[in-house]
Amino acid sequence: MSETSSIAAGIQAGEKYYGLKLREFWRLSLENPEAFWSEIADNIVWFEKWDKVLEWNPPFARWFVGGVLNASYNALDANLKKGLKNKVAIFWEGEEGATRSLTYYQLWKEVNKFANVLKKLGVKRGDRVTIYLPMIPELIIAMHACARIGAIHSVVFSGFSAMALADRINDAEAKVLVTADGMYRRGKVISLKSTADEAVNQAKSIEKIIVVKRAGMADVPMTNGRDYWWDELMKEAEPYCEPEPMQSTDPLFILYTSGTTGKPKGVVHSTGGYLVWAWASLKWAFDLQPDDIWWCTADLGWITGHSYIGYGPFLHGLTQIMYDGAPDYPAPDRWWEIIERYGVTAFYTAPTAIRMFMKLGDEWVRKHDLSTLRILGSVGEPINPEAWKWFHGVVGGGRCPVIDTYWQTETGGFVITPAAGIELVPLKPGSATFPLPGIHVEIVNDNGEPAKPFERGYLIILAPWPGMFMTLWRDPERYKEIYWSRFKPNEKLDFKIKPPAIYFTGDYAMKDDEGYIWMLGRVDDVIKVAGHRIGTAELESAFIGHPAVAEAAAVGKPHPIKGEAIVSFIVLKSGYEPSEDLKKDLVAWIRKTIGPVATPDELYFVSTLPKTRSGKIMRRVLKAVVAGGTLGDISTLEDATSVEEAKKAVEMLRKAMEEGGS
Ligand code: PRX
Repeated sequence: MSETSSIAAGIQAGEKYYGLKLREFWRLSLENPEAFWSEIADNIVWFEKWDKVLEWNPPFARWFVGGVLNASYNALDANLKKGLKNKVAIFWEGEEGATRSLTYYQLWKEVNKFANVLKKLGVKRGDRVTIYLPMIPELIIAMHACARIGAIHSVVFSGFSAMALADRINDAEAKVLVTADGMYRRGKVISLKSTADEAVNQAKSIEKIIVVKRAGMADVPMTNGRDYWWDELMKEAEPYCEPEPMQSTDPLFILYTSGTTGKPKGVVHSTGGYLVWAWASLKWAFDLQPDDIWWCTADLGWITGHSYIGYGPFLHGLTQIMYDGAPDYPAPDRWWEIIERYGVTAFYTAPTAIRMFMKLGDEWVRKHDLSTLRILGSVGEPINPEAWKWFHGVVGGGRCPVIDTYWQTETGGFVITPAAGIELVPLKPGSATFPLPGIHVEIVNDNGEPAKPFERGYLIILAPWPGMFMTLWRDPERYKEIYWSRFKPNEKLDFKIKPPAIYFTGDYAMKDDEGYIWMLGRVDDVIKVAGHRIGTAELESAFIGHPAVAEAAAVGKPHPIKGEAIVSFIVLKSGYEPSEDLKKDLVAWIRKTIGPVATPDELYFVSTLPKTRSGKIMRRVLKAVVAGGTLGDISTLEDATSVEEAKKAVEMLRKAMEEGGS
């Protein structure tokens, strides 16, 4: 392909705005990935250089094949060598007011010691370690200690229940669990160790539990020979641990996420490709400088925390804030006070939080001098223009670009986002703008052909990129089926990296007449509640685990702050009667089986659910019912032969909702 035609054909963005530099980056990354990525990958430290930049056997990609490196070495040792020994790596603050700071040297020392602790407890290269901790530095220390010895970490969000934790431990067959006595939330202490114990009772692979004293709880049950206090192990630990030389394609971590089945998926990320992507994507999107103070408010239990707290900022030798607590506790200006006190310059958060603060009133923000801020970011769900404008105007004082980053657990890092570090395009509130270099996206219709401007279509990715996940843990078949089988290559699509294969994101999107991309929500049965990804199937199977429930359906309903809220419909087994108590019991059951993030906002008892003849719940119908919209023509629904029955069921749902459910 000639240079001019490739620029013209290749660029997916509006000619007018996708500037020359960005365009050039994008073109090079896809037309000459070897040269492009070789140069970018040189920004991290390799013990041995790779033989091949990309080995692409669709849908499996291996990046920097033959390259040898260590993630903890890159995040820590490399910075000590650059003279950043005494630079603060983490300013930590707990909800209760405690503060800690760790320099790169201090963090490095802790990581080395904990790596030796793990080794001493028998953890070897390739073993899995589950980490179930609140947002304390020990969480980062444990992740990097795993990386240092080549163990694979699996961080489980500390808000998850014992059952959810047990499922994740069992799937990964983790040997060691790292947890804490308890955690603070809204001034209360919540026990974690007892939840961990409950999980471990159903997770036999765990041999040792290491417990951090976070909340100073009395009477923490400790099992002799299995449970150890973090502090005591650290006291005796050797100070230095040689970083394990890892292959670029060795897994760095597993992170479980929700999808369309009841079982969470273990997304597996590589070491080399992931780190290169974490390095490059952070630089390109946020243009961070050595004296920036970065604050990403995500939890390390999610991918945002992994890439943009756990790894990315350290790869750039940055100072970051880590806060363990509720955003609005004890007062709605907690975050703004932190920004002012530390002089945060780059602030990355979620639309749900932005909408919540917007509702709480500008005065809480205006009480503080936020003039150090120079760039803002948003992630996790579509940001509505109103929230975008408030964030830009009130928090950013009208002077900070808002970097809306669209991406997923699976993508490892940002994929569609303004690239302030390359060339900032004019922003449009609510649009994530254009893909980063190396990301070849398209929006297609049902036939897999490019959609027209303003036509809603499916967002697909046409080429492998370094940050992409390698597979699903021990389930390559599911990986192929879920992500790579929905769309087949066709001649209307311009594949730059061959052989062609199509990754389906599961998201709706559209381009406007200038090529800007607008994300329009999930196609599948994933609900995004306050940015947390929850599968309806996961909820439904949790409900069905309750002795009273015969059938269950869960759908998302638009919510002004959380983006979406969970609405569930329950058909009871015979012998059970609807009641307020049973409703409460079912809500408590979900909190117990999945965790408080999955708490349904509304729950209705019904006698039947609208289904297709093959027994599938008609989700579109349910969604339309809860949103109060029109049902549309349900006779056109796939496999929907039982229209009359479905109509009846819908009437019943509506009635149940009107009556409040019992
Ligand atoms: O639907 C998209 C939405 O979040 C999904 C990925 O969720 P998760 O794997 O939990 O990762 C969240 C953090 C990266 C996507 O498929 N999503 C994420 N960011 C955005 C978004 N939707 C619109 N705009 C975004 N900026």
